[in-house]
Amino acid sequence: MDSADQFRFTHLPHPAPVSVAQRTELLANPGFGRVFTDHMAVVRYKEGQGWHNPTIEARAPIALDPAAAVLHYAQEIFEGMKAYRAADGGVVMFRPDANARRFRQSAERMAMAEVPEALFLDAVRELVRADRDWIPSGESASLYLRPFMIASEAFLGVKPSSEYLFIVIASPVGAYFSGGAVSVWVSEEYTRAAPGGTGAAKCGGNYAASLLAQREAKRQNCDQVLFLDAAEHRWIEEMGGMNVFFVMDDGTLVTPPLGGTILPGITRDTLLTLARDRGLTVREERYGIDQCYADAASGRLVEAFACGTAAVVTPIGRFRGHRGEIVIGAGNGADPVTGDLREALIGIQRGQRPDPHGWVQ
Ligand code: COI
Repeated sequence: MDSADQFRFTHLPHPAPVSVAQRTELLANPGFGRVFTDHMAVVRYKEGQGWHNPTIEARAPIALDPAAAVLHYAQEIFEGMKAYRAADGGVVMFRPDANARRFRQSAERMAMAEVPEALFLDAVRELVRADRDWIPSGESASLYLRPFMIASEAFLGVKPSSEYLFIVIASPVGAYFSGGAVSVWVSEEYTRAAPGGTGAAKCGGNYAASLLAQREAKRQNCDQVLFLDAAEHRWIEEMGGMNVFFVMDDGTLVTPPLGGTILPGITRDTLLTLARDRGLTVREERYGIDQCYADAASGRLVEAFACGTAAVVTPIGRFRGHRGEIVIGAGNGADPVTGDLREALIGIQRGQRPDPHGWVQ
């Protein structure tokens, strides 16, 4: 199972790839997550057989038994990562090994078969190679990669599946948010993850659980939702699909600590390092929503931003909730620390700036 040979991907012929003209049109304005490339990587797992049959094949609907465990008990995990077209025309990826590791950790939490990190990386690289013409160029454009794994055993008993499908699809994307600062609804009714739960795993269930709160945020005219902790409804945790940072007037960065209820974001981790590199004080510590409102009123809290693979670094202009509304900084996202970290991150990701930590491959 571990031998490199068994991870050799078979490339199956594609019956009808998209024409060059069509692809060019699709790449001109892809939006987020609606346009998909020609291929997908597929690897199967069966207890006793291990991971087998790695293929790069035409992207198409997949056949699943209606009793497949994922459809009933949500045994599913995924990753989000990006490939970029570098200035010299080459293709680069950012910290793919960190995604491979987190995928394995998510699998462990969800009692799923673990995808060896080498297999994960091979699948992603093979797909990027096959679909490299789909990587858009341009300021905020990239090829978003979505590795995911589903429980495919047909069995209605509640137990870990004995069969899995590991698939990677790819989607050329522009920015996740349409631009400027986002507004954030502080959810008091709903929580995302409880201690001992699955908050640190990147599993579909966490995102399903966020949707009603996200709909409430939209109803309140906000772009995103912010969750508080499940035990006390007091501490700031995470947004619907991204981590959150706060910048104080003395340049200190504050972000909620990882403790099992927060997704260990790779962008979050990267920004902590970039901020330390810049000599900023970084605090991974609990930050209460009441303190946040008080700090905004006193002028201590000067910037806030959301971060993630999809969101990159997105300034937050205002928080709204049952406590009322607070405007952060000028409210328009023209925030110097946020802007500097964003530029630094994007520069490294696209191979335009030195990469002292060896993140780019
Ligand atoms: C990502 O940032 O890659 C995610 O999975 C979050 C989702 C909002 C797209």
